Amino acid sequence: MCGIIGYLGPRNATSIILNGLRRLEYRGYDSAGIAILSNDGIHVTRAVGKLSNLESRLQQGGDSPPFATRDAPHSMGIGHTRWATHGGVTEHNAHPHLNDAGTIAVIQNGIIENFIELKGELQAEGIRFRSETDTEVIPHLVDLYMKAGMPFVRAAFAAIVRLQGSNAVVMMSAQEPDKLIAARLGNAGGIVIGINPDETFVASDIPGILDYTRNVIFLEDGEVAIAQAGRVSVYRLDGAPVSKQRHVIAWDPVSAEKGEYRHFMQKEIFEQARAVTDTLRGRVNFETGEVTLESLEAGVKNAEKFPARIHTVACGTSKHAGLIGKFLIERIARVPVEVDYGSEYRYRDPLIEPGLAVLGITQSGETADTLAAMSIGKARGAQVWAIVNAIGSQAERMATGVIHMRAGPEIGVCSTKTFLTSIVDQYLLACALAQRANVQTFERSNADPFSLARDLAHLPGLIGQTLKPDPIYEVLANYFHDRRHFLFLGRGINYPIALEGALKLKEISYIHAEGYPAGEMKHGPIALIDETMPVICVAVQDGVYEKMISQIEQVKARGGIVIAIATEGDGFIRQKADYVINVPAAPELLTPVLTAIPMQRLAYEMAVRLGCDVDQPRNLAKSVTVE
Ligand code: M6R
Repeated sequence: MCGIIGYLGPRNATSIILNGLRRLEYRGYDSAGIAILSNDGIHVTRAVGKLSNLESRLQQGGDSPPFATRDAPHSMGIGHTRWATHGGVTEHNAHPHLNDAGTIAVIQNGIIENFIELKGELQAEGIRFRSETDTEVIPHLVDLYMKAGMPFVRAAFAAIVRLQGSNAVVMMSAQEPDKLIAARLGNAGGIVIGINPDETFVASDIPGILDYTRNVIFLEDGEVAIAQAGRVSVYRLDGAPVSKQRHVIAWDPVSAEKGEYRHFMQKEIFEQARAVTDTLRGRVNFETGEVTLESLEAGVKNAEKFPARIHTVACGTSKHAGLIGKFLIERIARVPVEVDYGSEYRYRDPLIEPGLAVLGITQSGETADTLAAMSIGKARGAQVWAIVNAIGSQAERMATGVIHMRAGPEIGVCSTKTFLTSIVDQYLLACALAQRANVQTFERSNADPFSLARDLAHLPGLIGQTLKPDPIYEVLANYFHDRRHFLFLGRGINYPIALEGALKLKEISYIHAEGYPAGEMKHGPIALIDETMPVICVAVQDGVYEKMISQIEQVKARGGIVIAIATEGDGFIRQKADYVINVPAAPELLTPVLTAIPMQRLAYEMAVRLGCDVDQPRNLAKSVTVE
């Protein structure tokens, strides 16, 4: 996960920024850089690898004097730890990035979805790019607007407004040496601003500034801050001022980590755009659509190792992710996939034949049943792969090929961001397999595995839209928290989302919930429906939309209460359902990543309304290491 730090105040900016970056090291990175404003302009030093490399470069003089030397009452700088997304791990791709004259420095987290278009536009103006990153379009855009006569702040706004996707951006200009500008677009990257009487700090995460201040504000989606030493003004993208509430972060490390959130689960739900950005980084070339999964390459490239079929083994939420993966891998790569509970697979004497890959999905990497199922595959000669979040876990050590979820630490017992990232991992796997095998199977024109992979560039932005504040969750929790039974229905690729929705609800709010493929309703569950039964239907505009509408009509005909998860702008479903939760329109195969989010948000609101222990529900553990 990329880290961002900025400082403006009387202390030494270089040492504050380096310390902040060190505090964010635990999130992982592959290169780092710093820009400091000195008397003679902005000096940037960057280095690949550990922060110690950057520090030694600075001690040797780097590309600039190591410490701020301005004769101003304050010193200013920005620093960044990068996980590569666009462009390889090289010094010239590390942040900060500059305009041609080196007067504007920018750091960024996220994916700029329209960077190819912006880059083309800037190249047409004769601008030469020095990196392969998407970030570099920002300083050039700001520069272009400043050359057209705009002052820095206006030019920065004009550039920020043009960025599509979920991004966090911080920039400074040598021409206005008393201002840092920070923006949050969507939810891929947070921005926290710490304010002391005579100094201001900017960071992607609270630990980065906690050594210096506890008084913070958090930027929301679509907000831009103009930070000066000791004060900050916040505006919406249209220029309207926003009055921000200040928060005081408690001294204990747990509250510090929770930041503005009440529970870890809530925090983890809202950091999913960022988690998915991390899952994607460096794995998709968004210009060509090529997918590279280094840790699986040997298995995928080698013809004899290309799997003839896959057995996915997992438990709980990870099993539901596996069911979605079955759709993805079969649709995109045409490799047959069977999905089983770890606890069943281990005792069913599975048919393990040559060409089989056993894929374990587990966020903890320590689930006893999943490990046992994987070891059966291994003992019988299958290649064993793992999709795993916990680095160094047993599942990772047992597997010959690993795809990390890169969700970051998940503290809440209820899996949220590891669910989304494990779906995305399987989408990547499906594209990688299809690209190696040259499979062109998808019906849509132009929707080959390369363009399917390019679709992923929009995913963090779509997740960000799905996470927008929406009063519907509180409304539903208020109306329905006292119901004892819920039914969840979905179909096609969204059928496992019905299973996951039911699991989320029962796990943290202790309400009984059943998830069903919608077409199965008539074979039994329909008998449960009466005017007291809330039925949550995933009915986005996909290939089975009409089928879902007819299920909704059947529920309504029996007096049931329908809560539909539907595509934004779908006016028709509003006439059919009692309540509608919107998700943005998306390519069909990406819809489960979005429809999962309302399930999580609804379960969370219900559990909070019921006063349940959201992060540590009764009888459950984060890693189930026993049979
Ligand atoms: O660590 P794992 O992904 O292997 O865990 C599997 C299940 O125990 C887990 O998904 C469980 O169902 C979660 N608490 C669901 O939120």
